Amino acid sequence: MTAFKQRIFSGVQPSGNLTLGNYLGAIKNWVGLQETFETIFCVVDLHAITTWQDPETLRNATREVAAGMIASGIDPKKSIIFNQSQVSAHAELAWIFNCVARMGWLNRMTQFKEKAGKNRERASVGLYVYPDLMAADILAYKATHVPVGADQKQHLELTRDIAQKFNSDYGVEFFPEVEPLIFGEATRVMSLRDGNAKMSKSDPSENSRINLTDTRDLIEKKVRKARTDSEALPGSVEDLNDRPEAKNLMNIFAALSDKKVDEICASYEGKGFAEFKSDLADLSVEILGPITEEMTRLMSEKSYLDDILREGSHKADELATPILTAVHEIVGFLRP
Ligand code: TYM
Repeated sequence: MTAFKQRIFSGVQPSGNLTLGNYLGAIKNWVGLQETFETIFCVVDLHAITTWQDPETLRNATREVAAGMIASGIDPKKSIIFNQSQVSAHAELAWIFNCVARMGWLNRMTQFKEKAGKNRERASVGLYVYPDLMAADILAYKATHVPVGADQKQHLELTRDIAQKFNSDYGVEFFPEVEPLIFGEATRVMSLRDGNAKMSKSDPSENSRINLTDTRDLIEKKVRKARTDSEALPGSVEDLNDRPEAKNLMNIFAALSDKKVDEICASYEGKGFAEFKSDLADLSVEILGPITEEMTRLMSEKSYLDDILREGSHKADELATPILTAVHEIVGFLRP
C-alpha cells in the first residue's frame, strides 16, 4: 500500500452568510487540526455558482468566508486559505471525474434531490455534477482526511468511490482513500424554528439560523425565540430523542462550551427553558461576539484578505500541479 502524507482539505461555499452550523460542524473543528496535519481550507466559489449568484455579492461573500475562517482561528501561517476558482486543477480534475463517476451514483445524491426540489429539469447541470467537483477539490491534493459536518458524508463516500474506480480503471494506486472527520457535539446543527430541518444559509427564515455576522442583540433575540417544547429539561441524552428542538439547543450548548451533552443535561435537569435559553444566549454571545467583531475588522482590510487568498492560491497551485500532471500521464493525454 502506498503511504500517503496526512493532509486535510475542506471547504465552505460563499453562497450566503456563514452560520452557526458552518462554525460548529466544520470551522471550529479545523482550528485544532492545524497543529497535527498539513491543512488546506478553500472558499468554494465554483460550487457556489451551481445556483445563481449575484457577481458583486459573490466577491464579497468570498472575502467574508475567508474572514470568518481567520476570525475563528484558522491561521494563514499554518494553513493554506484560498478560493477555488483561482486554482485551475479543481475544474480540470472535475472534468476527468465527470468521466469516471456514473450517472447512477449521482442520481443517489440526497443533497441534489433536496436542492433541485421538484423541478429537477430546471436545475443546473453543475448542481448535478457538484459532487464530482468536490471529489476533485480533495483529490487534487491527495488529501487523506476531510473534516465536515454530517451532511457531507454521502459526498465523501462518492469521493472514495471515484478514487477507487479511477485507481482500478487505470490499474494504479494513485488516489488515497479519503477519511471523513465528523466530530464534536454538533455535527448536524438544526434550524432554530424546526428541529427536524438542518440549519442552513438558504432557509428563507432569518430566525432559523444564527449568522456569524449577527449582532449580539440579534443572537440573543434568536436564541430567545428558538422553538422549544413545554416539558422541563431531561437529565439524560436518551430522553432527548423525541425532542428534536431541545436536543438541538443542548447540542449547541455543549459544542459552544466544549463539554459533552451529558454534562449539560446533568446541570439543567428538571429546569425550564427560560433559564437554559438565557444561559445559551450569554454563551453564544461570549463565543461568537469576538468572532463577529474580528470578521468585521478584517472585512475593512480587503487588501489584507486578498493578499492571503492570493498567496494561498499560489501555494495550493504548487501542490496540485504535479498531481494533475501525473493524472494526465495516467489517463494518456499526449504532451507534445
Ligand atoms: P457548505 O458550504 O454547505 O458548509 C460548509 C461546512 O459546514 C458544514 N455545515 C454544517 N455542519 C453542521 N450543521 C449544519 N447545519 C451545517 N451546515 C453546514 C458542512 O457540513 C461543511 O462541512 N459541499 C460542501 C463544500 C465543499 C467541500 C469540498 C467540503 C466543497 N468541496 C471538499 C469538504 C471537501 C458544502 O456545500 O459545504
